[in-house]
Amino acid sequence: MAYNPREDRWDRGNPLGRPLTAPLSSTRVHNLIIAIDGPAASGKSTTARLVADRLGYVYIDSGAMYRAAALRAIRLHVCLENRERLGRVAEDAEIGLENGGRGAVTLDGEDVTEAIRAPEVTAASSIMSTVPAVRRALVRRQREIGESVDSVVEGRDIGTVVFPDADLKIYLVASIEERARRRHAELAARGTEADLDAIAREIEERDRRDSTRTDSPLRRADDAVLVDTTGLSIAEQVDKVVSLAIARGARAEERGGASEH
Ligand code: DC
Repeated sequence: MAYNPREDRWDRGNPLGRPLTAPLSSTRVHNLIIAIDGPAASGKSTTARLVADRLGYVYIDSGAMYRAAALRAIRLHVCLENRERLGRVAEDAEIGLENGGRGAVTLDGEDVTEAIRAPEVTAASSIMSTVPAVRRALVRRQREIGESVDSVVEGRDIGTVVFPDADLKIYLVASIEERARRRHAELAARGTEADLDAIAREIEERDRRDSTRTDSPLRRADDAVLVDTTGLSIAEQVDKVVSLAIARGARAEERGGASEH
């Protein structure tokens, strides 16, 4: 870590460009960041939330920002091919993440927590996230939040672009069948019936778009720990990430362990 006098802040990087492995909790000069990336429905949100609980960190849902920006574009009837306007739609959006996205997500002062989960918003957010100006606007906000608190940030480019010096980077994967089953169960719990094969196709399409876009494609950072959640219980995946975080210097608050299934 080095003090950067020009910007009046501590730079989080280290000469090796790798995460710090020595315990940081004794110094606590900077806040800690755990980056959790991976494809759609790989278990990021559940894992990130529970890990944040265990460590007493703030959970930040970066996908909710892309979703809110997409909802704004839909409401303003902006064509999803008009990339220039999409950038402005995102820049001008007032997006609020109450408690990092765990509470209400607001757009221009309105609660859109439910609205951003609609299938057309899901599809539009994936298209919108290919636009560099949209990404620039949202990444700037993600950094502002992450630089001020110990946080667990989930997304697609957190370990590669948003916080390349994150203390711990996790790349979550799961088989397509498992991911489709999870998404199906999640929708059913919200009272929405959906076809399992159609869900699998939609997830594959999003994976393709997220990983082939030119700006910040979804990919595992070289120093990210790969965690395959296929066949793992939620408690097991949370325990795994928490142990890795503790090894990197995080201090667990231990509020009852990862007992949620
Ligand atoms: O994680 P999610 O399904 O809520 O994300 C919605 C879309 O936003 C997803 O298709 C990819 C995009 N996204 C992104 O490009 N970068 C992020 N850091 C988070 C989400």
